[in-house]
Parts: sequence; C-alpha cells; structure tokens
Amino acid sequence: MPHEVAARQIATNEEEPLYSAAMHPARRPFVGGNWKMNTSRQGAIDLARAVATGIESSRCEVVIFPPFPWLLPVADAVNRSRAAFGAQDLSVEAQGAFTGQVSAEMIVDCGATWAIIGHSERRHGLAESPELCGAKLRRALDAKLSAVLCVGETWEERSAGRTDEINRMQLDAALAGVPAEALARIVVAYEPVWAIGTGRTATVDDADAAHRAIRRFLGNRYAPAAVEGVRIIYGGSVNAGNARSLFSAPEIDGGLIGGASLKAAEFLSIVAATELATASTRS
Ligand code: PGA
Repeated sequence: MPHEVAARQIATNEEEPLYSAAMHPARRPFVGGNWKMNTSRQGAIDLARAVATGIESSRCEVVIFPPFPWLLPVADAVNRSRAAFGAQDLSVEAQGAFTGQVSAEMIVDCGATWAIIGHSERRHGLAESPELCGAKLRRALDAKLSAVLCVGETWEERSAGRTDEINRMQLDAALAGVPAEALARIVVAYEPVWAIGTGRTATVDDADAAHRAIRRFLGNRYAPAAVEGVRIIYGGSVNAGNARSLFSAPEIDGGLIGGASLKAAEFLSIVAATELATASTRS
C-alpha cells in the first residue's frame, strides 16, 4: 500500500485495523524492567532474584535491563529461572578504540539475550540520531540479540499532531535493511517522551491508536505473516495502578517499565496485571 494511502487511513481512522490481537492470539505478553542508572550491586542481585522467583508461573515474557556493571551478577541471580535479561544500550561499533563503549559481543558474553535500542533518554538526552539507532539495531541483531526498539514523540510533536509521523520516521530509519525474518526478535516499544518518568500516561485510546498506526507502518514494509506476530508494548509512567487498564487494549502487548520496575512487589504486580489484562483480549 502506498505510504500516502496508509497515512490517510490512519489520519481518518476510516478502516478497521489490518492486524489485531484477535487475529494473532499467540503474541505473548511482554514486560520489560528498565532499571536505568539505578541499583547497587547487591540491590540489583536482590531485585533480579525476587523477579525471577515471582514470575515462575507467569505466561508473560519478562526481561530485566540492569546497568552494564550488573549484567554478570544478574546473570547469576536469574540463572535457571524464566527471567531473561538484557543491556540498556550497546555500541554501534564491533570492537576497538571506543572508550567507554560496550559491544554487542560483550553483552552476549555476559549471557544477556536482549538490548534496548533508541530509548528516548538516548535519542533526546544524548542526541542519538534515528540512523544511529538503526545501526545499533542491526548490530544487536547481527550478534543474535533480541531488541526492544523504542519510538515515540515529544509533547511538542504530539501537540502539533505529529505522533504517527514521528513514530514512522523513527521506525523507517531503524528498520532500513532489517529483513522480515528478524522481526521475530524485535519488540517495538511505543514510549511517548512526555510520559516517561513524569507520572503522565497516554490515555488507553491514544496509546491503542498509536500502536495500530505502528502496526500499519510495519505492514507497509513487511508481509502480514511477519507483522502480525510483532509485539508492540507501551512505556511511560506505567505502575501497578494503571497497568491493567492500559494493557487491556487489544493492540497493547505489554509494557516497558522504568521507575516502577525498581520495586519487586510493584513490578510483579504489573506482570500479574498484564497477564490478566491480555488474557481477556487474546484467549
Ligand atoms: P517510566 O520509564 O516507567 O519511569 O516512565 C519508562 C521507560 O523509560 O522505559
């Protein structure tokens, strides 16, 4: 479908979603815990152990993202559990004279299986361009890592009605050169910048609309069979109180949790809420 036609359909909401959870009940709910630059070594070990124990019988895929220095202690802490872990970023370079950077191979060597790419604290806080995020995504995929690819608009962009345009631009740059087979290893996180760490969340309807638009953009690039299985999760001030209502929207396949992932009990209740919410829309 030509881009302009798709854009018009999104803008006017004239057409039902092309892809929906009901059409693809196998999308396993995903909950990520992005610890950012928080936790001590012992705190990270305790938190990882509590998460690993608490999700033993969960249907959700749960991945925690500790700071780089705690990847190895967290690897031990979650060993033989169902919790996976990943890095919050990686270098676009393979190896060499890149002071302070951490390569995909090093992350894999620590036992991690995931990486976050394009978080807004890197796009906006550290001026990472859409193209750099794309190159990092390809680096992660080449190293056999799975990736949470974050996209999202600023408040100014939302106010100007540019949400879908920004998401699409970031996706286009990130997915250039990424083959359809790799989609199975990508989770897209819609994270409106203005909702991250602010206590403000998108409304369920706004998030659901953004997610539907994201799935349409993916549908412009890839065949339906590849697109239907891609999980699109929401991030931005998710907590134990709002998770269930946010994740009950059919197009929201889970969440990327920042502040509320630092307390085991709250994070686990978000995982439980996600499971309940998605069970009602997908079984
Ligand atoms: P927050 O962060 O839950 O603290 O808003 C979400 C994120 O940055 O992924």
